[in-house]
Amino acid sequence: MTVTYDYTGRTVLVTGGTKGIGAGVAAAFAAAGAHVVVCARTSPPGPPPPGSAPPGSAPPGSAQAGSVQAGSVPGGSASPGLAPDIRFVQADVRDPEDVERLVRGLDRLDVVVNNAGGSPYAPLADTSPRLHARVVELNLLAPLLVARQAYPLLREVGGAIVMIGSASGTRPSPGTSAYGAAKAGLHHLARCLAAEWAPEVRVNTVVVGLASTENAASHYGPDRAAVDATIPAGRMATPADVAAACLWLAAPGYVTGAEVHVHGGGEVPAWSRLAGHPPQDP
Ligand SMILES: NC(=O)c1ccc[n+]([C@@H]2O[C@H](COP(=O)([O-])OP(=O)(O)OC[C@H]3O[C@@H](n4cnc5c(N)ncnc54)[C@H](OP(=O)(O)O)[C@@H]3O)[C@@H](O)[C@H]2O)c1
Repeated sequence: MTVTYDYTGRTVLVTGGTKGIGAGVAAAFAAAGAHVVVCARTSPPGPPPPGSAPPGSAPPGSAQAGSVQAGSVPGGSASPGLAPDIRFVQADVRDPEDVERLVRGLDRLDVVVNNAGGSPYAPLADTSPRLHARVVELNLLAPLLVARQAYPLLREVGGAIVMIGSASGTRPSPGTSAYGAAKAGLHHLARCLAAEWAPEVRVNTVVVGLASTENAASHYGPDRAAVDATIPAGRMATPADVAAACLWLAAPGYVTGAEVHVHGGGEVPAWSRLAGHPPQDP
């Protein structure tokens, strides 16, 4: 069975769409016919090597990470790293002026995927208050800023916002406490905005578990098999898995204020391992 979406004529903004999950989400919307705009602080990496797969063509279950390709679109750069149908705009989503300029450059806007986010490993006692403030800014305040700026355009067309949340916002997240707290706040922000902006604009969250991106080893360590074994589904989520949920949530429908967990069943509980049970046992 295949599920396809037709986003022809729709404009989709993916923040942080130059790498990792965001690049996969951007590629998936572009493959579905959308006009895709991505933003980041730095230009995407150079063009893919000749013969490499076009965006959106990665096989199911593959990482579908890495750069999207070269684009030349008015108002955005003809960056060598973007697909011809994906436009790059340099913008720091924490900066209100950048966000205002980013949205002002759009004629219409149907979907926002608030994806830019993340955090270094930063134990609270050992790292600066400034770092934790920046983490909260990126993961909570920036999506609020982007949503607020995008709202008038989204309302015009009955659009949708998808927040990229995290399992870290649903359970203790030692070492990334500020990040976990910010993501928990983001999940709640989405529920609030869904109620505030209904019925014109739908707002939902994709709560992502461990994901396989180009930075996965630096987040979760080099032993991929050990990481996969912590997940009931037996593998990390790919950007394509996250993109599939985004395509569904952004398509016209009734669902708003909801959270879709893309985490392969969560994390195998410690008690289950201590008791010597394989992950699938109750
Ligand atoms: N990877 C995981 O395992 C995982 C798990 C759960 C949730 N998530 C969530 O999924 C989202 C994407 O994660 P990822 O691992 O794919 O991230 P990533 O590979 O580090 O990519 C982050 C993207 O966001 C951009 N970005 C970062 N700061 C920005 C800023 N201030 N303004 C504009 N763009 C900015 C980056 O480009 P520049 O650096 O050039 O700005 C890049 O394009 C995040 O919200 C993260 O919290 C990830």
